[in-house]
Amino acid sequence: MTINGNYRATRSIDTRCWKSISCILLLVSFGRPDGYAQSPPVRAVPTVRAQTNATTVLEDSDHRANFSLNGDWHYMVDPYFAGLYTFHHEEKKDGWFENRKPRPGDTGPVEYDFSKSPTLRVPGDWNTQADRLFFYEGPVWYQRDFDFTPTAEKRIFLHVGAANYRAWFWVNGKRACDHEGGFTSFDCEVTGLVHAGGNFIVVAVDNTRRADGVPTLETDWWNYGGLTRDVSLIEVPQAFIDSYDLHLSRADRKTIEGWVHVSGAKTGEEVTINIAEAEVTVTAKVDEDGRAVVRLVPKELSLWSPEHPKLYQVELTAAADTLKDDIGFRTVEVRGTEILLNGQPIFLRGVSIHAEAPYRTGRANTQKDVDTLLGWAKELGCNYVRLAHYPHDERMMRTADRMGIMVWSENPVYWAVEFDKPEVYAKAEAQLGEEIGRDRNKASIILWSMANETPNTDARTRFLTTMAAKAREMDSSRLITAALLVRTEGHTKIVDDPLGKALDVIGANEYIGWYEQRPEDAGKTVWKIAYGKPMIMSEFGGDAKAGLHGSANERWTEEYQASIYRYQLGMLNHIPQLRGMSPWVLMDFRSPMRQLPGIQDYFNRKGLISDQGDKKQAFFILQKAYIEGLVGKTE
Ligand code: GCU
Repeated sequence: MTINGNYRATRSIDTRCWKSISCILLLVSFGRPDGYAQSPPVRAVPTVRAQTNATTVLEDSDHRANFSLNGDWHYMVDPYFAGLYTFHHEEKKDGWFENRKPRPGDTGPVEYDFSKSPTLRVPGDWNTQADRLFFYEGPVWYQRDFDFTPTAEKRIFLHVGAANYRAWFWVNGKRACDHEGGFTSFDCEVTGLVHAGGNFIVVAVDNTRRADGVPTLETDWWNYGGLTRDVSLIEVPQAFIDSYDLHLSRADRKTIEGWVHVSGAKTGEEVTINIAEAEVTVTAKVDEDGRAVVRLVPKELSLWSPEHPKLYQVELTAAADTLKDDIGFRTVEVRGTEILLNGQPIFLRGVSIHAEAPYRTGRANTQKDVDTLLGWAKELGCNYVRLAHYPHDERMMRTADRMGIMVWSENPVYWAVEFDKPEVYAKAEAQLGEEIGRDRNKASIILWSMANETPNTDARTRFLTTMAAKAREMDSSRLITAALLVRTEGHTKIVDDPLGKALDVIGANEYIGWYEQRPEDAGKTVWKIAYGKPMIMSEFGGDAKAGLHGSANERWTEEYQASIYRYQLGMLNHIPQLRGMSPWVLMDFRSPMRQLPGIQDYFNRKGLISDQGDKKQAFFILQKAYIEGLVGKTE
């Protein structure tokens, strides 16, 4: 995001402005129509924060038997969080998590009653389910009853696909866990809290934006709040497989190597991995930490690729636990300025995608949403997608695995988070851990992105360099990237952000023809890239209202957007180390920052397709370039 005092002028960095923090703060405020009050972004009084405690990530949980808690939940909107805090802002001992209701003879007034409250569908954001919640940011309480019979000797975990942004969980009035971070899945143990017969669960979710949040106060996407992805109960044996890493060795592209972790295992417990179709089985023993290192050398292995998205059913067994997963085996690496998939240079023909549900809008979280979005990407001729700016629903990765679409997955370190705060780093690293914890065995994911358009400060570079090292430590089989801002001097684009040193692949965002210059200036633009690394043009594009037509010089028309794409494709073909692109963006998406009446109406209109599925002219220009191979060089 440019910083030159005039926010909308350009998108590249006018180096004069970097230093002045005031530029950044200028961007904050925007209007507030009717409906529920929007709690002001938390900056002042440090509140009792929900630490991510007692949560973990059960890998492959979508392949485990589970008891779904999806459906209609009662809800109560609580802007002052009166259900949790006293008038002196201390945590209540008898908060709404007790799920009481007024009864004759009560010693004090009970001022809530879930059974008499309306319902919200889970999974789902609240903003698109009730008009009065469209703009609402703040705490909302969820409650539902459920009958359940625990299996003897089993442990029970509450699985949450995502809860935006902070969430507190109680089962039968007892605190189970808290979590911070709106886009990653997590699990918390509720063994002993759930009993046979009738149970109830109460959840408080607060999507208030926070300066010390990840993301922070400004996002060019709608801050959809709530239990936005699946919620369920999962039973596992006392000792069970909670995480594993199985990937193809870059050394020989024949050996499958990795590890399996068994929670609650005794040292020496056996783990067996069987890939029947590849006629290979291996058994290994766990060490004192419950971890077993494994190595399998199948006689033959068909490698995963977009052309041949081969998935193998892998069966993992340890003690009384058996887990099945569908895994593709492939290698991805860089060689100079090339990206190699299974040792072959590739070009990433992509598009950027937000998790906005097509047609109905709101947070995307169904197989139908996923099939529509990835179906359009495939129709466009893509072999790759950038999932922005946060981890998407697990279905997206599973489907990309099956469809043979390579994925850029991103941690929501977006714009100017508080890079100088260790507690903010801890949040970002925790979210990265959850992201990798859920998706490390998804063949489709080839790139972990650390961040998007962050300011070039020393604190930022330290923060993200540390995080990149952590990502490599957690997963050495993928490439690390980030979407960088670029500097502009006349018609020269300079990619020399110091963060580039920590990356395997450079992502660069530019908006020639929209936030700066004219579409045709792309044709005059020269790129200076300070790194001998592969580069992906992670964003470019412009807004167009579907169906709005005019001359190619008229902003907001399809013709103007089409003109941007034509000139961009020409320019991109002249960048020698360009190895991929993901124009901004596949589909129009909601944003509180986009308010031009009659055109934007709270939508970012840079989509190649409208939120109602109308393909704009630029869609067909890019489709032609991708399908006829008119853009991109693999080496
Ligand atoms: C930015 C940013 C996106 C944003 C886009 C835009 O570069 O990364 O999140 O939506 O530009 O301005 O449309």
